[in-house]
Amino acid sequence: MSKALHMENISKAQAEIAAKKPLLKDAAMRQRYHFMAEEGWINDPNGLIFYRGKYHYFYQYNPYDAFWGAMHWGHAISDDLLHWEYLPIALAPSEPYDDHKEGGCFSGSSIEHDGKLYLFYTGTTNYGDGFVQTQCMAYSEDGINFKKYEYNPIITAPDGYEQQNFRDPKVWEHEGCYYMVCGAKKDNLAKALLYKSDNLENWQFLNVMFESLGEYGYMFECPDLYPIGDKYVFMFSPMGLHKRTSVYLVGDMDYRTGKFNPVNVGEIDWGFDFYAPQSFPDAKGRRLIVAWANAWDWMPWWKDWGPTYKEHWCGSFNLPREVRLTPDYTLQFVPVEELRALRNDKQEYFDICIHQTPFSITAGDGVAFESRMIIDLKETTAERVLLKLRSDGEKETVICFDLRKAELSFNRDNSDGWSCGCSISPLSLKDKPLLDIHLFSDQSSVELFSLEYQNNHSCNIYGSSKQNQNFIVAEGGVAVFRSITSWGLETSMTV
Ligand code: FRU
Repeated sequence: MSKALHMENISKAQAEIAAKKPLLKDAAMRQRYHFMAEEGWINDPNGLIFYRGKYHYFYQYNPYDAFWGAMHWGHAISDDLLHWEYLPIALAPSEPYDDHKEGGCFSGSSIEHDGKLYLFYTGTTNYGDGFVQTQCMAYSEDGINFKKYEYNPIITAPDGYEQQNFRDPKVWEHEGCYYMVCGAKKDNLAKALLYKSDNLENWQFLNVMFESLGEYGYMFECPDLYPIGDKYVFMFSPMGLHKRTSVYLVGDMDYRTGKFNPVNVGEIDWGFDFYAPQSFPDAKGRRLIVAWANAWDWMPWWKDWGPTYKEHWCGSFNLPREVRLTPDYTLQFVPVEELRALRNDKQEYFDICIHQTPFSITAGDGVAFESRMIIDLKETTAERVLLKLRSDGEKETVICFDLRKAELSFNRDNSDGWSCGCSISPLSLKDKPLLDIHLFSDQSSVELFSLEYQNNHSCNIYGSSKQNQNFIVAEGGVAVFRSITSWGLETSMTV
């Protein structure tokens, strides 16, 4: 009976998608190469996996509206992380434990076991006594049609923990056993709870793997633990940490005690539109992460989710990034090499001196493009190097490398007549001879990578296609560029 209701709710949602899709035909703000849902609302990436030779993205999805609502799990597959085929919705709210009208099937992860694909997600409900979140499982023989486990929920919040803040199970395998980390809240502090299982069905609580003493906020959303080199990374999106949206810790994992001990901390992305990253290993031996390119209304600087709801959609994913560990235990987040396949029309300049007169970046149509630059810091006397992007002479987005103040900022106060706010990060150049910049512009976002992919800003901007001029300007001296290389980028997302 409940299987029938699940299938019925999936069919209803599929009919909604089919009915809405024609409305998006002329949607001018759609991204060209960043992943989006077919229509409606998307937030966190869920259940990312390389399974049976394909990349699978699942995602928090509301097919009924361009705003957050009862969460389904959307599903798409790809050979190259660029071109995506949408599959039927994998999970729809249908059971007493996951059918909260303002909840549904919350975020989680996936794992392959005996050839089958298992999903772990948070069921949300209200039995009349407040919001309840529990961990649930679903599985599939074919990787397309999922059955919810008949003994769900598999884990409930331990005594003393808030039932309404216990979510986002991330599952992995280590030495023949399965482990799961969940975000939880107790005494107004964030806790990461670690569980262990032999069979994916019965789970035993191991320990509080890591906890905030206040410095990491009151709740870890989408916690994720994974090995990299000889270390482990614990990554999460903190609630209650002001402008910080995605934090990583590098450290050591002790599976005997169930404790993670950090030795270094950093930001994955300083921009306003990078949240809830999830990692997964792929067949090329890489550890990839993908995040949701938007933000929540409880963030201090939040204004809204952007104007795309007028086109019946909202939200995209940031570019997939490869995580690399450096010898000093910081992490680099490098856009995947597959993106090179989108490049066209290469333009390259060497040894360019830029003063106050704007230097024009020629790159594709000036909307969907990629640009890489190397600044020679020894020869540069400028106090500030500005990238003025997506300009029409009036509106523009300004990225400023302030070499004097040692600060990097991404200002969208005048980007599009809609967006606002300035994301800022420290720009510690020490005695570096060179400063590297790598830029990806798409229809409705800009992703900036610098300092060898350790200082990154992702922000949405909703500039029209007429905003297609891009410039470099130096203030207070000369900026010497060893090279400036740019490409147009082809469209890979089509609906
Ligand atoms: C993070 C999050 C998760 C939750 C999901 C709900 O963006 O709040 O903690 O599972 O989104 O859609």
